[in-house]
Amino acid sequence: MQKNQSQLEQFFTEYLENQVFDREPHTLYAPIDYIMALGGKRLRPLLTLMGCQMFGRPAGDALPAALAVEVFHNFSLVHDDIMDEAPLRRGMPTVHQKYNANTAILSGDAMLIEAYRFLCQSPADASLPRLMHIFNHTALEVCEGQAADMDFEKRDDVSLPEYLRMIEQKTAALIGGALALGAVIGGASEEDAAHLDAFGRNIGIAFQIQDDLLDTFGDPEKFGKKTGGDIARNKKTFLLLKALESATPALRQELMALYSETSPALESAKIERVKAVFSELQTAASAQAAKTDYQQRAFQHLAAIDAPEEGKTVVRDFANWLFSRDV
Ligand code: IPE
Ligand code: IPE
Ligand code: MG
Ligand code: MG
Ligand code: MG
Repeated sequence: MQKNQSQLEQFFTEYLENQVFDREPHTLYAPIDYIMALGGKRLRPLLTLMGCQMFGRPAGDALPAALAVEVFHNFSLVHDDIMDEAPLRRGMPTVHQKYNANTAILSGDAMLIEAYRFLCQSPADASLPRLMHIFNHTALEVCEGQAADMDFEKRDDVSLPEYLRMIEQKTAALIGGALALGAVIGGASEEDAAHLDAFGRNIGIAFQIQDDLLDTFGDPEKFGKKTGGDIARNKKTFLLLKALESATPALRQELMALYSETSPALESAKIERVKAVFSELQTAASAQAAKTDYQQRAFQHLAAIDAPEEGKTVVRDFANWLFSRDV
């Protein structure tokens, strides 16, 4: 019997709670404990566990890799929040706000190393070189995506394909990688592991489009992050690129001018105006349509996997649950 989503959640939470993140020196380790305890959806480690059990090995075999993925994800958030100057994460102050930027940099570095330490605790018969290969490629892709995300802040000619590539790197690669790690530990063939990775990448692209949507139109209480942050920082999001595509020349001109603005004093007026333009151009509907398109592509890859239906159903239900949420 494979575990369902809530059983896997409980299984991972228990494992996580048995880890001791905070130790001496506290200046280095307490921030790790802080961000890890803030929780979040824990979607990536669950995917690692699901990817493993799908191919017939117990989910427990993938617990160290699942933890590695979640610690890496949290590391990426700690550094992302410095880069994005974000004040809130999961409804609480970001690490660099609560402590300071230098602490967030160094504790983040330690988290990256911790992630590798956990990955190395994978069962002896799970090929560590193969796991390392996936993890290394994934981690570098995330950095490449983050670099593109920042470069795009300064550019006004970002195309939709460039944007899609950037979110595939910064977000979708890790979701695909989380599943692929699980699949490899579970004993999947190369072909099935590649399909599961592709499933995750498509889900990940849909997930980042949803995140872009929520950053602009979400409920800040539920979202747990400051809304409007992407607009304030001139992020080239799906909403902006779609708006630029369908705007009249005058409106396009206005949007471009707004997106060259960086003055904090004008921030809230800018956010309000951009939101009004996005609403007028119905960009949220285009984002929803794109999300659905990527979800469907994902499900095609899942269908192509040669594994018992039971495990695939757990993954399919999880993806449907993820996109029915508004956080
Ligand atoms: C946030 O990821 C970063 C993005 C890729 C959008 P999550 O939305 O999975 O964050 P938590 O872990 O649930 O807080
Ligand atoms: C997330 O991009 C990508 C990574 C953290 C690697 P965002 O900057 O959109 O994520 P949030 O919205 O801050 O969670
Ligand atoms: Mg961010
Ligand atoms: Mg960012
Ligand atoms: Mg975001």
